[in-house]
Formats: sequence, C-alpha cells, structure tokens
Amino acid sequence: MIKPNLAVKLALLATCFAQTSASPVQHSLRPGISVDEVDPYPSLGKPRVAFKPDGTFKITIFSDLHFGENPWDDWGPKQDANSIKLMNTVLSDEKPDYVVINGDLITGENTFKENATTLIDQIVGPLNNAKVPFSTTHGVYNTKSDDSDATPALILWFFDSRETARMEEAWGPAEQRGALAFMHIPPHPIRDLQATISPEKNPGLNADKLGSGSVQNPQDEPFWNTLTSKIPNLHAIVSGHDHGNEWCARDAATDVVFCFNKHSGYGGYGQAGWGYGVRDIVFKSLDPQVPPETWIRLEAGETRAHVTLNSDYGR
Ligand SMILES: *[C@@H]1O[C@H](CO)[C@@H](O)[C@H](O)[C@H]1NC(C)=O
Repeated sequence: MIKPNLAVKLALLATCFAQTSASPVQHSLRPGISVDEVDPYPSLGKPRVAFKPDGTFKITIFSDLHFGENPWDDWGPKQDANSIKLMNTVLSDEKPDYVVINGDLITGENTFKENATTLIDQIVGPLNNAKVPFSTTHGVYNTKSDDSDATPALILWFFDSRETARMEEAWGPAEQRGALAFMHIPPHPIRDLQATISPEKNPGLNADKLGSGSVQNPQDEPFWNTLTSKIPNLHAIVSGHDHGNEWCARDAATDVVFCFNKHSGYGGYGQAGWGYGVRDIVFKSLDPQVPPETWIRLEAGETRAHVTLNSDYGR
C-alpha cells in the first residue's frame, strides 16, 4: 500500500505545468541568451506547440483511463478497447491542439513491470496516430507496486525548474502569460469546496461525495498555498480521481478556480448514467486576461456544463 505522505509527494511530482508558446508575442532576449536556450524544440526541427493563427488553442483532457483491469477475462480487455475507441472518436471530432492525460492511466493491481509498457503503448497509440502532442500526470495506481515486485532501492524525482528569472528575462513578466495546473488528485481544500457549489452556479455532474481519500492529504497545504498565490493568471487547477464529478468551482479563500476532468476510461469505478468523455478547455486569445471556455464532451458528442472561466465565474 502507498503511504499517505508518499501519495502527497507523488502528486506534487506529477503536477504538470504545460507551457505553450504564444508565438506571435515576441520578447527580446537579453544579449547572450540564444533562442535555443529557452526553446525546447528548434534545434530538433520539431514543430512548436503553438496557438493557432486565429489566436485559439484547444486542450482536450482525458482522465482516469484505468487500463489493465481484469486481464484474466474478457471484461478488462473489452473495457480497454472501448476506451481506445473513445479516444479515437474524441480526437477525430475535437482535433485538439494539445492533450493532457490527467492521471490513473493504468489500474495497478494486475499490472507489473513486465507489462505496464504494453498498456502505455496502447494508451498513446491514438495520440500518436492523431499526431497530437500531449503530457501526462501520474495518478494513484500508476505508482503502486505489488508484493511480488521488489521494494525500490532508489526513487528518482524529477522537477522541471524552468528557472523563473530566466523565463522572465526571456519572455517578459509572468503576468503576460496565462497558466493552467494539472494534478490527478484534487488538493485537500476541494473537499470543503463541494459544500459551496450549486447546479446553477456550477453546472456538471456532482455525484461523487468527496471523502478523505477523494482529495490530497492535508499535508499538501504548503503546495496549495504556493500554487494559489504565486502563479499569475492561473485560469484553473484541474484534477480527476473522483469519477462522478465534473464541476468547476471557485475557492473563496484563494479566489482560484478548480475544475474536475471527466472520467474517460471504461475501466475504474463508475455508475450507470455517469457516462464517459473528456473536458475541453479552449483559449480564444493569446491575451492572458481573456478567459478560456471549458465544457464536458461525452463520447457520443453531447456537450454539457459549458462555462467561461472569467472573473465572475463561480461567485
Ligand atoms: C501482467 O503480467 C502478469 C504476469 O506476469 C499477469 O499475471 C497479469 O495478468 C498481466 N497484466 C495484464 C494487464 O496483462
């Protein structure tokens, strides 16, 4: 079993700040800093992840795919085939500029080191076919080890530093950029936030009553405080884990908006009527003050809970 404090650390590790270049906005670099030093792509000849020429940028979020359940019978592999079908349908309809898989890609109970990569290959297959760039966060199950797996002797932690001073020198003040934060398990204050929401103010399924295991351990307090106070233009913090919730809500204490993903995988717990789908987030402008729009898209194409994350949202 995973220890709670480890779960918190892993979630911090998994927090992903995807950065997309807003190519039309150019800031002059300090003499001595070359473009190659701050741009991860050009020397490799890879395309940049960029807003479209019309100033829009669409992110599609898959969450809780839970591949690899019940490998001993039909049911698990059938679920995975359905999840791949959902991914293909959504990618072909939505044509996102970027994809985030926000944790719980695999259900760990029946997956060991010899077969985890096979499942990852299946999951990234639709993304590679669609040639869409993506990032993933890890979840709970992606890190579990079975009793038969040896206890690790060494854990490698990776943090993307993106040295702030240099970012600001190269790209101008952070206030000139928008931001989104992704992590699999909601930070702990989201549990209390649920009591403040209403269907009118916060549309979207609200079928999962949050308990202690539904959110981070309260030890994430310093992380939450930093996240909510230090990032200018943070449009939303986005999490999954609780498959029956879809709402976006504003935390009054920090004035930051939190949004649930949509359960995308046929694996993992669920209830009749919850459905499967994705959350789309669409930016309409490079201007970080222009709020993105977001909604839930179900597999068959129905959309719901369409909201604009402007400064009035969720008040
Ligand atoms: C992974 O391999 C183990 C045997 O090493 C097997 O018991 C398990 O069912 C496999 N899991 C999947 C998801 O195929």
